[in-house]
Amino acid sequence: MIAPSILSADFARLKEEADAVPGADWLHVDVMDGHFVPNLTLGLPVVEALERATAIPLDCHLMINDPDRWAPGYAEAGSRNVTVHAEAAHDPRGVARDIRAAGALAGLSVKPRTALEDWVEVLRDYDTLLVMSVEPGFGGQKFMPEVLDKVRTARRLVDTGHLNVIVEIDGGISRDTIEQAAEAGVDCFVAGSAVYGADDPERAVEALREQAVRASAHLEQG
Ligand code: DX5
Ligand code: ZN
Repeated sequence: MIAPSILSADFARLKEEADAVPGADWLHVDVMDGHFVPNLTLGLPVVEALERATAIPLDCHLMINDPDRWAPGYAEAGSRNVTVHAEAAHDPRGVARDIRAAGALAGLSVKPRTALEDWVEVLRDYDTLLVMSVEPGFGGQKFMPEVLDKVRTARRLVDTGHLNVIVEIDGGISRDTIEQAAEAGVDCFVAGSAVYGADDPERAVEALREQAVRASAHLEQG
């Protein structure tokens, strides 16, 4: 799956920017509160408007404090997936329950320096694991290959039936980095600047998908 991140899109033309990537599986929406991360982006009213403006399922990535309070609203707005940060949630199991009850998939994200081991039990209550491959807060940063160990561990836990999550990666994904992420076992690739910085965003989505499919087919053949 490819999830273009509208963080790198033109915020004054969000409907057109969504329409520019009809082949996207999810549209990734970075919600930042200026506290959990130093940057500030958009919130629920914009997500509600975007939900009405596009048929592409929304993947809301909440980089906010107290997601316990705010996450269910994003699910109620019709998002397909709502991801909260492990480092920010007060009651991670409770948030997952509330997100699911409001009709969305529940995602848990870990920052680059957050160990996966501490969250494996909690992830049993989640549908998505979002591995951050940059420090959250800004688009266009350099990919951190060291997080791929977490992807490999998650892939193994999923393949052996210990977890049932979509493994998603976010940060620095491009033509140069997507193959190593695919080989490590990622299911869903977020890409901001690599899609919206391209002359033809839809072609960029398809090129990334082809590269990921080729790299993971190679993986399955051993
Ligand atoms: C960063 C955001 C990402 C960002 C990725 O904190 O969570 O979703 O949009 O942008 P690129 O793909 O440019 O690294
Ligand atoms: Zn994101």
